Amino acid sequence: MQLTPDEKAMLDGRDGPAVQAAMDLLMRYGRALGAERLVETNNVVASISATTPFMRDYAMQRGGMDAVFSEFSLDSDVPVTIPKVKTFTTHVQLGFDPGNAARMGVDEQTVQFYKKGEAYITGLGVQATNTCTPYQVGNIPTRGEHCAWMESSAVIYCNAVIGARTNTEGRESVGAAMLTGRIPYWGYHVDENRLGTHSVHIATDVITTADWGMLGYWIGEEVQGRVPVIEGWSKLPNLSRLKHFGAAASSSGGVEMCHIVGVTPEANTREQAFGRNTPREALTFDAQARQRTWERLNSTAKRQEVDYVMLGCPHYTIEQIWEAARLLEGRRVHENTELWIFTPRAIKSLADRNGYTAIIEAAGGHLMTDSCSAMSRAAPKGTRTVALDSAKQAHYLPAILGVEAWFGSTAECIDAACDGRFNGRSPS
Ligand code: F3S
Repeated sequence: MQLTPDEKAMLDGRDGPAVQAAMDLLMRYGRALGAERLVETNNVVASISATTPFMRDYAMQRGGMDAVFSEFSLDSDVPVTIPKVKTFTTHVQLGFDPGNAARMGVDEQTVQFYKKGEAYITGLGVQATNTCTPYQVGNIPTRGEHCAWMESSAVIYCNAVIGARTNTEGRESVGAAMLTGRIPYWGYHVDENRLGTHSVHIATDVITTADWGMLGYWIGEEVQGRVPVIEGWSKLPNLSRLKHFGAAASSSGGVEMCHIVGVTPEANTREQAFGRNTPREALTFDAQARQRTWERLNSTAKRQEVDYVMLGCPHYTIEQIWEAARLLEGRRVHENTELWIFTPRAIKSLADRNGYTAIIEAAGGHLMTDSCSAMSRAAPKGTRTVALDSAKQAHYLPAILGVEAWFGSTAECIDAACDGRFNGRSPS
């Protein structure tokens, strides 16, 4: 790989052993990918926390969090002192909500370790945003900006909706990126890889958040890791709909980049979206496809009784919390059902000030932060059946927790929370 003089100096140890180890890791990573060079980045979304019991024990045995960072983020079994980060870095979720630890089944020892971990993160200069939706809370790169982001639902939002550039990075590459300000130049950093490959025409109603989730889920299954170009939308999607759409497409198929003609910034026209590419396939999302997707997402559900309603995958926007509060106001969550809604900490503080948290709590629900049921593997004790308004969560949770899952609209999920039963209807 070609290195600049500055990169060569980092590799030679000018900035200390941690930066040297980070450059060494990036070189190995870049070579494996076939990248010819690195690109500068000042925008990283990372996980450097240590909330698993294994990492906690490792930290205790090897002398602290620097040892965890060295081993698990820099692939260095020799612990090195980790300096403050060079790049603007925001943290994805941690393992649970420290404000609801007992509710999530987390013991006090883990809470104390978590607090040390968060102090370590902020001490390095990483922003403790603790969310899969960094673009909601201050990490909004500019169009064309080279980034190094983890978290598939955030990656597709970064590439497609914002027009910034990232691949789906892992804990190691972002750990190296935050110390060096570099990431291999390949994949979606490169113009030609961002062009459309598959044409998708929408031939049915795609209006609500659930509709956009189903569209994304279907597209992911159809195109897998390719770049769909979507046309035919009838109502402009907002942030929440694009968030649910991308999360679904990236979980059913690994889509990291897409274009929605007339909506996303690299697709003012179909011609711009495809560039010199000829579409490999022309796909149509019609009423039958939507119905089949709904059935697939509800394929594990049998019991009408619902033990748990989880909202906030990806983490809810303030608009979605406002909507949930309006749907809940004056009602009560059923005595056999729990309602947990996940959002970034910063947005919860806004919801607190706006009175939405109080409305949700008065109804018997809980507004929670920092995590989600899939990440934390936590659900109310004894949960057998869940209701979800997220296609991504419906994709993962049955496998992760061994539960049955209903997928429906936000209103259907709130009704399920209050009735203790899911009475949602298929779209047809
Ligand atoms: Fe975020 Fe958890 Fe969903 S990490 S995208 S809320 S699975």
